Amino acid sequence: MRGTSDDTAMGFSTRAIHHGYDPATADGALTPPVHLSSTFTFESAQEGMELFAGERRGFIYTRLGNPTLDLLERRLASLEGGEAALATASGMGAITATVWSLVEPGTEIIVDQTLYGCTFAFFRHALTKFGIKVSHIDLSVPENLAAALKPETRIVYFETPANPNMRLVDIAAVSAIARSAGVTTIVDNTYGTPYLQQPLALGADLVVHSATKYLGGHGDLMAGAVIGRQDTIDQIRLFGLKDVTGAVMSPFDAHLLMRGMKTLELRMERHCDNAEALARLLDGHPAVERVYYPGLASFPQHDLACRQMRRFGGMIAFELAGGREAGLRFMNALKLVHRAVSLGDTETLVQHPATMTHSTYTAEERAAFGISDGLIRLSAGLETLADLQHDVIQALDAAQVSVAEAA
Ligand SMILES: Cc1ncc(COP(=O)(O)O)c(C=O)c1O
Repeated sequence: MRGTSDDTAMGFSTRAIHHGYDPATADGALTPPVHLSSTFTFESAQEGMELFAGERRGFIYTRLGNPTLDLLERRLASLEGGEAALATASGMGAITATVWSLVEPGTEIIVDQTLYGCTFAFFRHALTKFGIKVSHIDLSVPENLAAALKPETRIVYFETPANPNMRLVDIAAVSAIARSAGVTTIVDNTYGTPYLQQPLALGADLVVHSATKYLGGHGDLMAGAVIGRQDTIDQIRLFGLKDVTGAVMSPFDAHLLMRGMKTLELRMERHCDNAEALARLLDGHPAVERVYYPGLASFPQHDLACRQMRRFGGMIAFELAGGREAGLRFMNALKLVHRAVSLGDTETLVQHPATMTHSTYTAEERAAFGISDGLIRLSAGLETLADLQHDVIQALDAAQVSVAEAA
């Protein structure tokens, strides 16, 4: 298959490493060249005219396309099992460019109640200023969608597992209900990654990503992506990206992202190993009241997780017996694990959604939409498990001792 895209029968990592690139096209360079050019020259005025008119294929200006972005996009499409992909400057760039391309005043959008904080703010506070109606529905019960659909509903949007409380949505069930009503299903697959979960194969129309997270994997870039049918991706590129958001990815970041994606399978296996062990540790510790991790048999949607995910991911949410104050004490007692937002990096990170990533929700919205004030979110990194276990245990013990002292 050397250098061709004819590799659909090949494995995930093979495609993540080779798809769409032949070193023979670049003087034998093992690593694809990075095209750090904002614009592309035309051999003649005629050629420029034809490129602009869409009568000829080629590169014009990096906001519309670039060879490095093009390679990344073909790889992303291959890994997610979609026809085409669009790379963007951030996850928010992907979400906003996609949604702005598919709505008009009077459109209704149904979103799940649990969303990443800035996604929530975009739907609740930005789109609604422009005559677009947004309904926040608990999509973990697919029948709720059927009951909520209206003639003006155009989009159903959700994350699974959802940030931060790990609630799952049945992708196949929700997509089927949406499809029968002519509604576009968009799934944020940031937590799942195409390695663990493939929403398009389950019937979704579009997948969006914060590629800043697991796809990049090293905390050194901002990136986003949307994957789906060629005609829809063209529409998002030529309107949502080109004219509305301008959220184009830097070719240098595309290079870093492709480097990260080469090890996605390896990293996800290790993220899952570490998260599964830490979830069990937390579950068995007296200082912990509740653990939300799809891989635990006690997780209410464990069966759904087994059906639609390969493994259960690197993210854990939990509440300590002493509530919010104990959670904050736990965070402050950690010595190896960093206190930071973002996720999917090599380093294990911990944060407090109510005051950090999800402070875009009011206290009332958090209460209504299932984001408790005591919730702690942990992104399991790739460190040696025993060191993580040691740090988490000593921080839990410290939080518990403080509870006992206060009592
Ligand atoms: C699930 C999810 N979607 C989207 C985003 C937004 O991505 P970005 O920060 O790359 O704009 C985030 C960021 O944390 C996220 O967690």
